[in-house]
Amino acid sequence: MELIICKNEEEVTRQTANVIIKDIILDPKITLGLATGSSPIGVYEKLVKAYQSGLISFKDVETFNLDEYIGIDRSHPQSYYSFMNQHLFNHIDINKENIHLPRNHGGDLEDLANEYSLMIEQSEIELQLLGIGSNGHIGFNEPGTPFRNETFIVELDEQTRNDNARFFSSLEEVPKFAITMGIKNIMRAKKIVVLAFGENKSDAVYKMIHGNITNELPASILQLHPNCTVIIDEAAASKLNK
Ligand code: F6R
Repeated sequence: MELIICKNEEEVTRQTANVIIKDIILDPKITLGLATGSSPIGVYEKLVKAYQSGLISFKDVETFNLDEYIGIDRSHPQSYYSFMNQHLFNHIDINKENIHLPRNHGGDLEDLANEYSLMIEQSEIELQLLGIGSNGHIGFNEPGTPFRNETFIVELDEQTRNDNARFFSSLEEVPKFAITMGIKNIMRAKKIVVLAFGENKSDAVYKMIHGNITNELPASILQLHPNCTVIIDEAAASKLNK
C-alpha cells in the first residue's frame, strides 16, 4: 500500500482528482470504478472542472459504480444514481451507455447482481475509487462479508445506516438493503485509490493499514492489493503513529 498523508481535505481531494485526471489523459478509454458518499464529492467537482477547461474528455470513458440502495427508486434524490448525475454525469460529456450502476429493480435481484459482476469482469476496471466506512466497509461490504463475494445483496449495518442518516430526513428512511460490488470485484481492479478524511475515519484507517487482514474489517484486504494508494488527511491519519 502506498500512503499519502495530506494537510487537509482539500489536498486529499486535489491529489485524488489528479490521479484520475492523469489516468484519463493517458488512456481516454479507461474504465473507472466510482464511489458515492461525501468523500468523493470534491473529487468529482475537480473532474468536472478539468472537463470544462478542456483538459480531459469522458467521451470514451466507461464507469461502474460500487453500489446502490435497494427500496428507493433511481429518481429518489438519495439514490446513488441521482447522486452521480448531480455530482458528475450531468456535467460531463460521458456517453450515457457507458455509465453503469447496479440495478435495484426490474428483475430478480440475484440475477441483476450476477449480471453486474459479469459486466464488470468483461470490461475490467482499471482504476477503482473507494471511500471507507467508519466500520471499515468498502462498497457496502459490511464487516463479516466473505472476501470471495462478487456483486450481492447486503443488509446494511446499523452503524452504516446511522452514518448515512445525515442524507435522509430520518433514520427510518435510510434503506435497510443495498446491492454492492463484492470484495472480489473490487480486488480485480488494476489500481485502487482510497480516500478518507476526518477523525471519525481514523480508527478504520488504522485497521485498514496496520490491522489483521480479516473480513471483520473489510478494507484490510486492500493490504494484499498490488497497486493500492491511500490518500488521507492528518485527522484520518491521527491513529497511525500512536
Ligand atoms: C459509497 C460506498 C461507501 C462509502 C463509505 C464512506 O459508494 O461504497 O463505501 O465510500 O460509506 O462514505 P462517506 O464518504 O460518506 O464517509
